[in-house]
Amino acid sequence: METQSSPKALTKLKSSCRSTELVICCTSLLVMILLLFHLRTSFNSSYSYSRTSSASRAFLIKWKGLAIDSSSSSAQDHSKNTEALISKLRDSVTFLPIKDLRFVETAMLGHTWFISSMNDTHEENEAEHLYFPSEASKGRLLCMKGRNKEDGTKNSYAFAWPESLPESATLLKGLTFVSDTYYDYKNLWHGLTAMVPFVSWSIKNRCLRPNRWLLFHWGELRDQMGSWLYHLMQANFGEVEIAAVMRHNEGSMGKARKLQVFDLLRCKARGFCGINPAGKGQEFNEKGQPIIRLTLLMRRGSRSFKNATAVTEIFAEECAMVDGCVLKVEQSEDLSFCDQVKVMTGTDVVASPHGAQLTNMLFMDRNSSVMEFFPKGWLELAGVGQYAHHWMADQSGMRHRGAWWDPLGQKECPTPHNDLECFKFYKNGQVGHNETYFAEWARSILNQVRISKLEQATRSRSNLGACVC
Ligand SMILES: *[C@@H]1O[C@H](CO)[C@@H](O)[C@H](O)[C@H]1NC(C)=O
Ligand SMILES: *[C@@H]1O[C@H](CO)[C@@H](O)[C@H](O)[C@H]1NC(C)=O
Ligand SMILES: *[C@@H]1O[C@H](CO)[C@@H](O)[C@H](O)[C@H]1NC(C)=O
Ligand SMILES: *[C@@H]1O[C@H](CO)[C@@H](O)[C@H](O)[C@H]1NC(C)=O
Repeated sequence: METQSSPKALTKLKSSCRSTELVICCTSLLVMILLLFHLRTSFNSSYSYSRTSSASRAFLIKWKGLAIDSSSSSAQDHSKNTEALISKLRDSVTFLPIKDLRFVETAMLGHTWFISSMNDTHEENEAEHLYFPSEASKGRLLCMKGRNKEDGTKNSYAFAWPESLPESATLLKGLTFVSDTYYDYKNLWHGLTAMVPFVSWSIKNRCLRPNRWLLFHWGELRDQMGSWLYHLMQANFGEVEIAAVMRHNEGSMGKARKLQVFDLLRCKARGFCGINPAGKGQEFNEKGQPIIRLTLLMRRGSRSFKNATAVTEIFAEECAMVDGCVLKVEQSEDLSFCDQVKVMTGTDVVASPHGAQLTNMLFMDRNSSVMEFFPKGWLELAGVGQYAHHWMADQSGMRHRGAWWDPLGQKECPTPHNDLECFKFYKNGQVGHNETYFAEWARSILNQVRISKLEQATRSRSNLGACVC
């Protein structure tokens, strides 16, 4: 067997196994692969290990009938022959590269290169996925070999029946979630989009929790998630070790399903952080005006405001003119996971430059508002990816109240005719401000939020019940 020399990867996985072999086979495993903005997943909950096990036993018996002369079989021959057959099946397990280079160029056209020999299962409104063992896998388990962190073609997989696993394999009991992403597990937004399908699948399947994660990026093993994502997954699933396969993001999931996933994540995160939002949304000041909490969520470095003081002054002035408005200015990098959940739970309107910190919008109550700011060049050069937080707002039940793009004017980039190169020049620039525009915009949003809060107060509020899982 091939031995890779990457000592740290899968350390956690290894320590959970009796053997230190690199081949692992999972008794129950869900694979989703995150490829750009498409997504596929599905699962048939009727597949169970015992069913598979008896299916593969039936298969063995069928084969036995073909392979041996049944007239001469005493009970002893019988079991000897079975042993021989199992041994042959074991030796016939074939490992294939987990990253199939034949499909690398066409990955965006639908065929995936990650575990390319098996098609995804589709279900309406759900992300496409693979589930093992299943009818599609003919009852075989998925086995993975290798822990290369630099080259996905060096890691491999095979399908094997539980009775005839490869010699050196370790059987991992319980449910394993396997994710492959085109992006990463550190960035809040990219990490979240890779995990949402698993949460959705879990809701649909009796809130099943995984025993472990196996994480890949382009078929390369990853041994950790970013801390924000880790905490959110911990809030939702409890402590889960990362040993961790999904190969699509949430793209094909229906809208109602996404809202349900985000409601669950919000509810779980608040519970995990000990935040009780009861009474929120019904707060009024002494003059009977609804409390409106406006948060400026700042960032440092790239895409920070050129003059944060000036921006704060504009918002403070507008907030001061609305009875009940409370302004907070928070530095996103300085907040722990639970601080972020807490700040956002207490926010009705978040105003923030474009960036991963905005993924925290999911922790606000539904129907809360988002105002977003972009450095110059983005509107003209950044492509559709710049609308990620518009989509996120839509998926998580928030209202994206528009964005302000720093006007570009003349292209000052060194390569004005090459948009991609030029965008790299502007990508991490800082965000300026337009006092007139910001003031009018803030005034208008605060007014709309005030009106909807007054309307809301006249309706009875239900929700705030227990989390669905
Ligand atoms: C996957 O789907 C394609 C297109 O429908 C089909 O041609 C192919 O045979 C399928 N492969 C497997 C392994 O089922
Ligand atoms: C930032 O804005 C403040 C308030 O408008 C102003 O006093 C200050 O000079 C500005 N700073 C810079 C570096 O332009
Ligand atoms: C969100 O706003 C819509 C439209 O005003 C309203 O129908 C819905 O009930 C609101 N949802 C919540 C959770 O407040
Ligand atoms: C600032 O915004 C106002 C209001 O939208 C607009 O009329 C004005 O042209 C903008 N100023 C600059 C310098 O872009």
